[in-house]
Amino acid sequence: MTKLLKVPNHIAIIMDGNGRWATKRGLPRNLGHKEGVNAVERTIKSCLKYGIRYCTFFAFSTENWKRSKEEIDGIFDLLRSYISKDNNIFIENQIKLSSIGVIDPFPDDLKKALNDLKEKTKNFDKLEVVFALNYGGRDDIVRAVNKLIKQGNEINEKDILLSLDTGDIPEPDFVIRTSGEQRLSNFLLYQMAYSELYFPKVYWPDFNEKHFVKALKAYQKRNRRFGGLS
Ligand code: IPE
Ligand code: IPE
Ligand code: MG
Repeated sequence: MTKLLKVPNHIAIIMDGNGRWATKRGLPRNLGHKEGVNAVERTIKSCLKYGIRYCTFFAFSTENWKRSKEEIDGIFDLLRSYISKDNNIFIENQIKLSSIGVIDPFPDDLKKALNDLKEKTKNFDKLEVVFALNYGGRDDIVRAVNKLIKQGNEINEKDILLSLDTGDIPEPDFVIRTSGEQRLSNFLLYQMAYSELYFPKVYWPDFNEKHFVKALKAYQKRNRRFGGLS
């Protein structure tokens, strides 16, 4: 493992720019998503190399259902083939796969492939990769609060934090959104209260180890105060 001083424990990534990457080349948008899968694989390898413990990838938002059926089906196909490979990066490197969001509306075979791989990797602890699938930060909060009100007690901040889909993993230290857009698009809203944000211009399909290291170096220069004094 390559040691860099002070790496984030949990990196969360808004993988944006797949469509523009493809359109710029005169290609259909889904080829941008296809190339985006390679960027996911590269980034997982970088996480292993630099000792990141948790990496969350925003793969499909609760708002992405507004896209064409063709694009959505294409994303599902890519996801299905990525996680269905026999010798995949998760098994080979002892990486735990988990997901956040509500996968109920996804195709049955995709849900099965996802659940199978989650089951096979559940005891691995080298790195945890979290796919955010049909995930929305507001939806996450609403579902957490609904769970809590059933218990009938007054609730506090910690109760909400622990009832979110990310309840058993730490809050993200560092959030990267590629493609130059500077917004959160309903990602981990509650969990990002004190995350450091970083917006490189690169489109997601081009994101590589060089960009990853540059991002880590930017993170190292941040002074996290959490409302106190440094
Ligand atoms: C991000 O790339 C991937 C998903 C939202 C699934 P986009 O598809 O949003 O790419 P742009 O923003 O149109 O370039
Ligand atoms: C956010 O990107 C969702 C994912 C990366 C999965 P979008 O491209 O959907 O966000 P907006 O529409 O530009 O805000
Ligand atoms: Mg986008």
